[in-house]
Amino acid sequence: MSKVKLSNGSYMPIEMHRVSTVHPIRLIPVEDRVAALDEAGNCSYNLKSEDVFIDMLTDSGFNAMSDAQAGAFHLADFAYAGSESYYRMADKIREILGKERFVPVHQGRACEHMLAKAFVKPGDLIPTNFHFCTFQTQVRLLGGDLVEMLQEKGMVTGGEDGFKGDYDLEKLEKFLKETPLERVPMIRIEAGTNLIGGQPISMDNIIAVSEIAKRYGVRTLLDMSLVMDNLHFIKTRDAKRRDMTIREIIREMADAVDIIYFSGRKLGFARGGGICMNDEKDFLAVRALVSCYEGFPTFGGMSSAELEVMRVGFDDTMDADVVSQGPDFIEYMVEEFKKRGVPVVTPAGGLGCHLDADRFCEHLGRREFRAAALAAAIYIVSGVRCMERGLSSEKHEDSICPFELVRLAVPRRVYTISHINYVIDRVTWLYEHRGMIGAMHWEDESIETHLFTDYIRPVGDWREKLAAEYKKANLE
Ligand code: F0G
Repeated sequence: MSKVKLSNGSYMPIEMHRVSTVHPIRLIPVEDRVAALDEAGNCSYNLKSEDVFIDMLTDSGFNAMSDAQAGAFHLADFAYAGSESYYRMADKIREILGKERFVPVHQGRACEHMLAKAFVKPGDLIPTNFHFCTFQTQVRLLGGDLVEMLQEKGMVTGGEDGFKGDYDLEKLEKFLKETPLERVPMIRIEAGTNLIGGQPISMDNIIAVSEIAKRYGVRTLLDMSLVMDNLHFIKTRDAKRRDMTIREIIREMADAVDIIYFSGRKLGFARGGGICMNDEKDFLAVRALVSCYEGFPTFGGMSSAELEVMRVGFDDTMDADVVSQGPDFIEYMVEEFKKRGVPVVTPAGGLGCHLDADRFCEHLGRREFRAAALAAAIYIVSGVRCMERGLSSEKHEDSICPFELVRLAVPRRVYTISHINYVIDRVTWLYEHRGMIGAMHWEDESIETHLFTDYIRPVGDWREKLAAEYKKANLE
């Protein structure tokens, strides 16, 4: 019951928790926001948290803990080897995901590092429904590459298909037929699919991919970082699974694949990550690397306290009301933006509300950093930090990326509906003044791999002019 029907017939998401611990936030004046952007090289990752009013950069490590999670901190056994906290978490993985072997690492990309190092050699190719930037970079650094297998329906920002993260099964089958299988160490599935607007993949599609993989004898690797939202979408959009519990859905998914990894900064409301599987040989290969790069395998770079928090976070995740909170808020934002004509990715996905910067800033050229410029402009007119998902998150040589998106992430249980309404209002104001958003360019064109923190510069003084116009509107 995470949505309520109002007496006027409309629906509103409602928080299924009450607040017990709070963190104060403040909105600095608009001139100071322009100065903060200057200091940050106009890259929202570089802003200081104290200069941010509402932080919609990411949910990563930023989801609010439940009281049970906060309490679990104190159960930590900090033993270097054989910690009780590890065994409790390994039991939880066995109970929920049905995988016998578990190794923690310090966060999601560390899982990717270990898995890539264990299985990828030069010339290898890894099919994926859609790449995630950290995994793609790591595989490329090892001389391999990813092969995109997303269905066409996922490559558009509009439409109403409920599972835009689905694999193109024919393409996968053709690829496996034509490629020497010793060059295909794994088939990767991402549930849900981050870079196309948090769009989910259907259970039937995961099962079909897994059946194809089995026929060709290739292991399947499932990135469950964003699975919480994906579970909600399977429960609400897949008629066959409407009556299943979250626990049953996640187990059906886990049973379909060989190796699972996740960012515990997302799944589990904690700060960590983990890899689990049944195959002993694969496990030993990964565990040896964890010992070398992360930490002893019973903590793997995580604090034991966070292992305890993650374990309780897995229990929290089995509650449909907890799982629906993010997607319900996101759906509300998407619907409100649609009513106001603001271009958004549809249907509503997980992780955040994604603005379509190509349509929002269509007056800018495709190489003028539409998404990065929009993210900077949103910060100026609202103090809201969001994330550009476009040119400046991609590798430089891919100079045109398929999507220019701006993500307004909805960290779980952190913001209330009044915060959300404020964001909707300010982004709408900006849309009405979108012609004022100007172009951007890299400060240093020579950097090869742009991941998150590089400086970009505005062309001209459009940011100052936008700030002046906003001030004139007298909204603060
Ligand atoms: N896989 C997916 C699907 C992710 O969304 C992320 C992180 C990772 C792996 C890596 O996990 O951050 O713990 O190292 N996504 C973050 C985001 C960065 O905000 O989208 P990590």
